[in-house]
Amino acid sequence: MVETYSKHSNPNMRRPVVQEGIVDFMRSQNQGLPDFLRELQDFAERENIPIIPKETVAFFRLFLQSIAPRSILEVGTAIGFSALMMAETLPKSQITTIDRNPEMIGLAKENFARYEEGKRIRLLEGEAQEWLQNLNGEQFDLIFVDSAKSKYVVFLPDLLNLLPKGGILIFDDIFQGGDITKDLADIRRGQRAIYRGLHKLFDAVDSHPDLMVSYLPLGDGLLLVKKEAAQVIFPQEST
Ligand SMILES: C[S@@+](CC[C@H](N)C(=O)[O-])C[C@H]1O[C@@H](n2cnc3c(N)ncnc32)[C@H](O)[C@@H]1O
Repeated sequence: MVETYSKHSNPNMRRPVVQEGIVDFMRSQNQGLPDFLRELQDFAERENIPIIPKETVAFFRLFLQSIAPRSILEVGTAIGFSALMMAETLPKSQITTIDRNPEMIGLAKENFARYEEGKRIRLLEGEAQEWLQNLNGEQFDLIFVDSAKSKYVVFLPDLLNLLPKGGILIFDDIFQGGDITKDLADIRRGQRAIYRGLHKLFDAVDSHPDLMVSYLPLGDGLLLVKKEAAQVIFPQEST
């Protein structure tokens, strides 16, 4: 029994941002996953662990095979499902993944040890922001950010430093179950930091001349950002 998550955690993940019937239709799609990844999906569902949903898996598999990144960084490992899915999709790539939750780290380690794909996955334990600064000097062709949403904008400069020109950032869960366009006054106080952080992120990347941006309504929303210059500079105060 997993203690970190309950059926009440992450309610936004359960509120589709597109019509429910369309979501069901996309989730019925054959994602082409091997049995061991389907078993991990079933485990996550049983234990309420928030892993990427099936329509996002299908998109990742097609997208990753098309752009073929050699090195990937993930922020937010949980049980290691998405890291193993990326390793399985890209047999020649190296994956580095970060998590700070001891229960999730324990489960991820077990899963990485159990499957061959886990040999190409490096798990970094601890606070993402510290690791993002310590990884300085390394470069990743793609970075998938699936952790605390209010911190995305805080991570942004470090994330961009870890990408070469042409590299891609993907942020998950950016639509807050469809509430992201609501007035801040209509958002519960405890949730407002997440909304503020996400809007700051959108403002920072959206019209930046050196970034190319796309929002995708998959799961609770993906934000794709392509780095189009060797160095990306933000006006003071924007991140
Ligand atoms: C949504 S889950 C990741 C799911 C995983 N990417 C998947 O799809 O299989 C988010 C994870 O991010 C971790 N996390 C959240 N904020 C973090 C932070 N600031 N530093 C490190 N890990 C963080 C949590 O412990 C949790 O395991």
